[in-house]
Amino acid sequence: MGRVEGKVAIITGGGMGMGESHSRLFAKEGACVVVTDIDIEAGEKTVADIIADGGKAIFVQHDVASESQWANVVSQAVESFGGVDILVNNAGIIFFASSQKTTADEWNKTMAVNLLGVHLGCQAVQPEMAKRGGGSIVNISSISGIVGMPNQAAYQASKGGVRQLTKALAVDYQKDNIRCNSIHPGMICTPILGDLQHEFEKARGFLGPGAQQVTRMADPIEVSYPVLFLASDEASYVNGTELVVDNGFVAT
Ligand SMILES: NC(=O)c1ccc[n+]([C@@H]2O[C@H](COP(=O)([O-])OP(=O)(O)OC[C@H]3O[C@@H](n4cnc5c(N)ncnc54)[C@H](O)[C@@H]3O)[C@@H](O)[C@H]2O)c1
Repeated sequence: MGRVEGKVAIITGGGMGMGESHSRLFAKEGACVVVTDIDIEAGEKTVADIIADGGKAIFVQHDVASESQWANVVSQAVESFGGVDILVNNAGIIFFASSQKTTADEWNKTMAVNLLGVHLGCQAVQPEMAKRGGGSIVNISSISGIVGMPNQAAYQASKGGVRQLTKALAVDYQKDNIRCNSIHPGMICTPILGDLQHEFEKARGFLGPGAQQVTRMADPIEVSYPVLFLASDEASYVNGTELVVDNGFVAT
């Protein structure tokens, strides 16, 4: 208990899946959590559950691709909890389609949420973190940002962008004592996978040869603990790294 005691953490896409799990764990470990999501009902439910468990959290409706909404998220964090120490850029979307079948609209939407959203989030929190003498940003990329897989061209490009943007920011923000690291989950059981979240064998087949030695999907909490580590002071000398959480998927 208390691994992020008293810290203020913004977690995007906190309404369901991994973001919900991260939000609950951070609150349990003592953080004041700003849960943001485009889905109001889901985000409000996460916050209600945290408060019912004795934690501290607020919900802010938020499209991560909107610069003005990022400004609102940061000011709500400052108003409610006094500043920002941690940002987990978790919100993401996927269109399963090969490069040839990906429309310009799908490409742009994917880049707007998965990559522009991360850029805007980091930009928005940097001044507040600098004011407090430092902070920690954890960007959720994917193993899709490291190795090639079939039928997710735009998603892979966006997650590769997040991986490299994280390293750029680790260098840019070093002078302000703001660490920036990326997490690369493998096959995690969440709503983003649709029906595939309940069909491990089918999902494994869908993800190509690299997936074949993976033995199971993870529960979201198995990603939340690595995120917590990078966000916390336990990782005080960890900056610009990529932490793969994938049951050996990319180790092949
Ligand atoms: N599930 C996996 O297997 C897996 C693997 C690797 C990486 N990831 C990444 O992990 C992150 C979390 O994924 P998940 O599996 O929990 O997904 P999910 O679909 O279960 O949850 C995503 C959340 O983000 C919210 N969201 C979507 N668009 C948004 C926007 N524009 N602004 C704000 N919120 C928005 C959704 O409402 C939802 O609550 C994503 O970045 C995803 O790409 C997932």
